[in-house]
Amino acid sequence: MSEEFPGLVLAFASKETLEGFLVRRWSQWSREAVARDGRFVVALSGGRTPATFFERLGAEGTGLPWDRTHIFLADERLVPPDDPASNLGMIRERLLHRVPVPPANVHPVPLAGTPATSAEAYEGVLRGFFELGPGELPRFDLVLLGIGADGHTASLFPGDPGLEETKRLTVGVRRTAPDHDRVSLTLPVIDHTRAVVFMVTGAEKSPAVRAVVAGPAGALPASRVRPEGGQAYILLDSAAASRLAGWPEPPPGQVRADLL
Ligand code: 6PG
Repeated sequence: MSEEFPGLVLAFASKETLEGFLVRRWSQWSREAVARDGRFVVALSGGRTPATFFERLGAEGTGLPWDRTHIFLADERLVPPDDPASNLGMIRERLLHRVPVPPANVHPVPLAGTPATSAEAYEGVLRGFFELGPGELPRFDLVLLGIGADGHTASLFPGDPGLEETKRLTVGVRRTAPDHDRVSLTLPVIDHTRAVVFMVTGAEKSPAVRAVVAGPAGALPASRVRPEGGQAYILLDSAAASRLAGWPEPPPGQVRADLL
């Protein structure tokens, strides 16, 4: 497994330029996927970072194939849909209320008792939608991920057994208050994606970003993401990129997108 992040590390002068880049990429990928497969299937993260991106996408994403777009969650907190902690609740408020995605194309994580039983129910949703046979993995067109200051991504936290899951598509994750129990996609699913995009902003994330970009591989949960055959991006604002060697001139082989 290569030590360094296997994809493109793009550092932007501001979160706004980062979001503009990602809106353009979403537009391109959605049109390509619909032309290729008749649908665009994404798994989205929650948290604070993507909220304004979803608003921007909702405002600028006119004319995109929303009627062929399917929305899944990369992870979800096990709270009622109207709870402020709900990832899908935030995505509905910031994006889905602005674009014409058919309700049947939005696939919530079922609230089905314990984290484990909810994860099993979500796995059933994935197996049915992707028509998976035994041992097969779903192939999302895009998985949008964040990185926590501790290096977690989706709801795969340092030391959590879910990080080691190699067979199941989803895992239940027990958390302690004030956090919430969660369900997360597993690494094999994330790695089977056509395009994995990490979106990371803020100086408090810069140590985790440096570890994920520079390696060693596997140092943190986010470092374990190694898409096979797909594209991988880490999109950063200057604060999150501030501990990368050579910032503001990124290391050789990596590109400062605001210079593009
Ligand atoms: C969640 C997210 C989680 C998030 C990171 C970063 O459910 O909390 O999916 O993985 O991406 O914690 O969160 P912020 O964007 O709020 O910093």
